[in-house]
Amino acid sequence: MSLESEIKKRRTFAIISHPDAGKTTLTEKFLLYGGAINLAGSVKGKKTAKHAVSDWMEIEKERGISVTSSVLQFNYEGYCINILDTPGHEDFSEDTYRTLMAADSAVMVIDASKGVEKQTIKLFKVCVMRHIPIFTFINKMDREANDPFELLDEIESVLGISTCPINWPIGCGKEFKGVYDRKEKNVSLFKAAMNGQKEVDTEIVDASDEAVFKDRIGDAFYDKLQEDIELLDGASAEFDQEMVSAGDLTPVFFGSALTNFGVQTFLEHFLSMTTSPLPRKSDQGIIDPFTEDFSAFVFKIQANMNKAHRDRIAFMRICSGKFEAGMEANHVQGGKKIRLSQPQQMMAEERHIVDEAYAGDIIGVFDPGIFSIGDTICKSNKKFAFEGIPTFAPEHFARVRQLDTMKRKQFIKGINQIAQEGAIQIFQEFNTGMEEIIVGVVGVLQFEVLEYRLKNEYGVDIRLEPLPYEHIRWIENPEEIDVNRIVGTSDMKKIKDLKGNPLLVFANSWSVNMVLERNEGLKLSEFGRN
Ligand code: G4P
Repeated sequence: MSLESEIKKRRTFAIISHPDAGKTTLTEKFLLYGGAINLAGSVKGKKTAKHAVSDWMEIEKERGISVTSSVLQFNYEGYCINILDTPGHEDFSEDTYRTLMAADSAVMVIDASKGVEKQTIKLFKVCVMRHIPIFTFINKMDREANDPFELLDEIESVLGISTCPINWPIGCGKEFKGVYDRKEKNVSLFKAAMNGQKEVDTEIVDASDEAVFKDRIGDAFYDKLQEDIELLDGASAEFDQEMVSAGDLTPVFFGSALTNFGVQTFLEHFLSMTTSPLPRKSDQGIIDPFTEDFSAFVFKIQANMNKAHRDRIAFMRICSGKFEAGMEANHVQGGKKIRLSQPQQMMAEERHIVDEAYAGDIIGVFDPGIFSIGDTICKSNKKFAFEGIPTFAPEHFARVRQLDTMKRKQFIKGINQIAQEGAIQIFQEFNTGMEEIIVGVVGVLQFEVLEYRLKNEYGVDIRLEPLPYEHIRWIENPEEIDVNRIVGTSDMKKIKDLKGNPLLVFANSWSVNMVLERNEGLKLSEFGRN
């Protein structure tokens, strides 16, 4: 197959949701259609089976959760699909955000009885920042659900994106009758499939045959559906592929992942509405995915997968061309030519060695400690660098005290390496040196990870003293203002990152605006740049 057709058939997306909305269940059903697994439910048998592969750290085993995100690849109807899975636990980390940088589109799973939840909002913001297409799957229609119009209103008002329902539910819970396809003007009747069954008995009824249709769903549901359709046709946004591609309009689908209802239609519509790998911006202009030369950027570093060797795996998203195992390429930030060895890919959470991969794919390569998040690797001697990955705002802060002062060197080395992998961010007091270290994390679990790893990998004991700050802002224009003279609030603190960039942390969100009002010309940003 030619390079072009290999790349054209690729679709790389992330699934975002609040924990328990059904992301894992939906992913399993996708894999089932692709034949990547034989029985849905075997990808992550929660607390048991999944330990085998993805839970590389003790802490994950103890908790029965997955701290890191993984990548799954499967083929379906001529497409090669890469799903970037993100941790479903509340205590997710920056990894979750960064994973979205590697995706070309996102699938947002919403629990029909809960609507838009906190974690979805956070992840959604990153998708908006990147203007990637977002597809909505409203799940659990087999249970009592909120009114579908209210769900759409909520998505529009809370997330600020227009919605376009592709299908429409008829009833919910025990009275869930099925979904109406607005374009085809037919109805798929709901027949719950056994968990794990691939082929669902879906009966499709032509909605124009009033008598048959009424007979199947009953008069009351029939009348309600007619009313809903009229309302929808009058009020909701029309489908517009350009708006979808720009991330301004989200196609909405209703279904039930657990009972495998509406999943295949969703997958098929989704695949036809998303694009193959998109061009990416670099400091030397746009890089076309179809160019011969291989290029990629590192979006995640996973450390110590094998404790005996202290090895690290750098996960990279291929942005252009073809990757071949053992190939030599330029590591732009390191200023050296390197050989990319032990390339790995995940297939239904099993790691295996790959010989070749294409733009759109994610590979993990052995990292002898040279890569940082955001680094570019390219075959071309032009040595361009892809746009940096933003530093996402930590929401929890703690002062780190080292218990044995004799181990200062190990402590500094350990904490810096862990920060380099992007698991934590480290800061210092604005006007003093390295002796005071403040750690910021996106999810509180990372504090435990830090403590655990410093002890187990570097032999250093620490004590973490929680700080009350929850909001962080990078000062965008430090050259224009005198940071020392910023008029703050009582709950504000000035700190700096490792590069000396000044930042402000606040305990209360309202203080952010107060400080902006008090200091004319001050510009603050929620995202930093690597
Ligand atoms: P997550 O990855 O987003 O965290 O969610 P996950 O798929 O693990 O689903 C969370 C719970 O919701 C699971 O139940 C799952 O079976 C259930 N679920 C997912 N989709 C549907 C659906 O369409 N309808 C209904 N009724 N339930 C659904 P659990 O009891 O917490 O876990 P498990 O023991 O079944 O694995």
